[in-house]
Amino acid sequence: MKIHCFSSIEEINRAISNLKSQGKKIGFVPTMGALHEGHESLVKQAKAENDVVICSIFVNPTQFNDPKDLEKYPRMPEKDVNRLELVGCDIAFIPGVSDIYPNGNKMLDIHFGKMEETMEGAFRPGHFTGVATVVDRLFNIVQPTNSYFGEKDFQQLAIIRRMTNMMGHSTKIIGCPTLRENDGVAMSSRNLLLTTEQRNAAPLIYKALKQVETFIPYHTPEAVIALATRYVEQSMFLKVQYFQLVNNETLEDIKSWEKGTKVQGCIAVLTEGPRLIDNVSYSL
Ligand code: PAF
Repeated sequence: MKIHCFSSIEEINRAISNLKSQGKKIGFVPTMGALHEGHESLVKQAKAENDVVICSIFVNPTQFNDPKDLEKYPRMPEKDVNRLELVGCDIAFIPGVSDIYPNGNKMLDIHFGKMEETMEGAFRPGHFTGVATVVDRLFNIVQPTNSYFGEKDFQQLAIIRRMTNMMGHSTKIIGCPTLRENDGVAMSSRNLLLTTEQRNAAPLIYKALKQVETFIPYHTPEAVIALATRYVEQSMFLKVQYFQLVNNETLEDIKSWEKGTKVQGCIAVLTEGPRLIDNVSYSL
């Protein structure tokens, strides 16, 4: 079936009212475009669990704390729409900045406490307010039954769950596993910006996350962090910005190993190009 593309709020509102009046289940995949197999897997899952799949493509300016990062973010809407059509997405919603932010970049007045101060939040001030604002706006427009997000952005997923609750959205948030290249590198739109040397070094990140698994719980969390950091920094092209072992719900740092706690190891790595993030879960 041919995909429908909408860019104006009026058009998408009309389509949503129509679908709602027919009682259709809407699966929603919000993205910033430059789609890869990871996004495709979200669309496929949404397709299997809903009557209609809507994917939004919107490079959200308010979640970029670095204007250069926003400028460089890969954009390829035509290629994206072709990909979406091939995996059976029904509607691509591609709004402009003034459609999403009709009153200038007015942010949602929402706070997530410690959850937004750690990891990504500590290095990207305002990032999660921007994410929460755009996702809240998109949920209001699309009114999805189920919404699909990748677990690669682990902290984002936790914050979106919290925001959904706080704002009273009825959509169910579904976290989907990270898709990896054959060498373990987590799929990401930003990988397109890596040089050959940086891309060749990137597998060390996932290897480090897996490598330290065997040291838990025999070494302290600090020792595990130091070990993973050294492992990644074998490469002169990679510099660990943070590696944190956190409780997978509260995102609080793990101070000691307690049986039954679900621990997430979350890492951000600087290259001279894009910044890469990844995470894995460790069970105790
Ligand atoms: O993960 C992303 O691509 C973005 O942060 C999201 C959720 C689409 C909001 O802009």
